[in-house]
Amino acid sequence: MSHLFGGDWTEAKLDIVSRYAKAFQTALKFRPFESWYIDPFAGSGEREEKRFSGGLLDGQPIEEKIHTFAGSAKLALEIEPHFSHYRFADTKAEHVQALRQLAAEHAGRDIQIFPGDGNECVRRIVSNRLWTGSQTSWKQRGIVFLDPYGMKVAWDTLRVIAQTKRLDVWFLFAAKAVRQQLGPRLDRVDQGKAEALDRFFGETTWRDAFFKPIAGQTDFLGTETDRSETAANLQTIGAYAKKRFETIFCWVSSPKPLTVRNVPDYFQLYCMTNNDSGKALELIKKLHAAVVKAQNQASRHTFDR
Ligand SMILES: C[S@@+](CC[C@H](N)C(=O)[O-])C[C@H]1O[C@@H](n2cnc3c(N)ncnc32)[C@H](O)[C@@H]1O
Repeated sequence: MSHLFGGDWTEAKLDIVSRYAKAFQTALKFRPFESWYIDPFAGSGEREEKRFSGGLLDGQPIEEKIHTFAGSAKLALEIEPHFSHYRFADTKAEHVQALRQLAAEHAGRDIQIFPGDGNECVRRIVSNRLWTGSQTSWKQRGIVFLDPYGMKVAWDTLRVIAQTKRLDVWFLFAAKAVRQQLGPRLDRVDQGKAEALDRFFGETTWRDAFFKPIAGQTDFLGTETDRSETAANLQTIGAYAKKRFETIFCWVSSPKPLTVRNVPDYFQLYCMTNNDSGKALELIKKLHAAVVKAQNQASRHTFDR
């Protein structure tokens, strides 16, 4: 089945997350932990992308080709040492079917596919007895890759992940999707959009952060009567999101900005953790810096070729 999406930014994102997953597993290799790879918006295991070749400079007719690449689920299953547990979720029946097939190709491993909402999947995992039991919870460590379309990750999902203190998160924050929901004026954000933003940011103060009163638009009591967006661009939206994440995670990386169709910061990739044990936190920061640097160098080489 085909899952057509993405571009260079997708390859960059997947490269970073799979480098991190590999480094994470290597670091945990001789430790007494059970490792989890959790991908609640997993897709189908593969992605397809239209690419064009030829053109005037090549002296060839322009040709459109569909290329197939490994998606996050497939990449995670290839990582060695293997994770102890894999959990994938998706709402789309065809993707669930493809994920089940992928799991069947790796029989003998603990791979579970959750057909449904990724937020619910995360809640179920962290309330499982392995994560809550007094004899077992200390052993659990893992990575959650939150790679939704738009604003599908609920704030509550980030909160329950942070509460475990044992899961590192990679979150593809869709700044552009937030910008689209906000629109130009607060009074034009309809109830559905406002509720989606509340659920996404876990509070209601985004209204004040993103919309400033229009100068002079006050009634006779001096109360503002109208508001217009003055400050919310993709960077300020990202800065606001980072501050929100910092209210529940003890460490949030600088975002890796991802440009889509010439729009910088369309996506911002964050790594965050609430694991506040000194050694673990140092390791997470070190791995994060190393994988981002390696990906920057790799993309420079691709560009040079
Ligand atoms: C950007 S794609 C994920 C791509 C994947 N990480 C990869 O590399 O192949 C987002 C996926 O989330 C799924 N999705 C959308 N809403 C969802 C939800 N509420 N819960 C779980 N999956 C959802 C979509 O069907 C889609 O497959």
